[in-house]
Amino acid sequence: MTSAFSGNYPLEQRTGEIERLLVQGQAMTPEALAMLDRFGPMRGWHCLDIGCGPRGVTDLLAARVGANGRVVGLDMNPGFLEFARREAAANTEFRHGDAYGTGLPDGSFDLVHMRFVASTAGDPERLLREAKRLAKPGGIVALQEPDGSTLHCYPPHPAFDRLKSLLLAVFKTVGADLELARRLYFVVRQAGLRDVQYRTALLAVRATDPMVDYLPSTVESLRAAALKLGLIDESDLDTALAECRRHLAKPDTSFTTYAVAQVWGRTAT
Ligand SMILES: C[S@@+](CC[C@H](N)C(=O)[O-])C[C@H]1O[C@@H](n2cnc3c(N)ncnc32)[C@H](O)[C@@H]1O
Repeated sequence: MTSAFSGNYPLEQRTGEIERLLVQGQAMTPEALAMLDRFGPMRGWHCLDIGCGPRGVTDLLAARVGANGRVVGLDMNPGFLEFARREAAANTEFRHGDAYGTGLPDGSFDLVHMRFVASTAGDPERLLREAKRLAKPGGIVALQEPDGSTLHCYPPHPAFDRLKSLLLAVFKTVGADLELARRLYFVVRQAGLRDVQYRTALLAVRATDPMVDYLPSTVESLRAAALKLGLIDESDLDTALAECRRHLAKPDTSFTTYAVAQVWGRTAT
């Protein structure tokens, strides 16, 4: 946890965290593109991806806005930004900053986007206030957030269920909400955005899919927080991780990930 920044983000930047976020982003790409399609032509737009991590959707935005457009990725994690800058398109820049108080000028973006930030860091209302401030009049504010309660594996397994409960409990205990998707439409409407739209997506994962290690690897990134909060002891955690990974490696096992709510609306003109 980085105390100089607002919010309660509990995921550590352990070795493997960049890879975990990239695999997740790759799996989500078709759904992210389906949302961007709904925005219409984006040539020349100025876009901001708040809490972009090592890439976020900055690459997808860069391709849509073209050479005359501009994409800014903002994150509090210097290691993620260093990685992101190495692969950045010519129309993209990455900035170190706080999602809740970016310091960027009012009304400067056609699109302000956040994926898995309001749920994992908490206080979506405050993030939405900042996003609204940054969007141009009539600009789009878009959020993509998960509902972790839809994580189910088949055949069921107690280690999977244990890790799922732990995942949800860590976020809840620190004041974040990995089930934010359920109330996202409400929260965005309450923030005063107009013409609010709502899409959902649910990914299915098999042993052969890149996202197979999603649950164990996310819990690995929450290890320090889970132990500090006293939600599990280290040997139980290691046992659950090993048993869950053994189960997910079986060719007949599958699981559904978190459902993702994509909700976007426009600021007043
Ligand atoms: C779950 S990751 C998602 C990364 C990216 N949006 C994606 O979908 O691949 C959440 C990101 O939000 C960033 N973050 C959390 N709290 C933040 C804050 N207060 N200011 C800036 N970035 C923050 C984290 O560093 C992390 O990169």
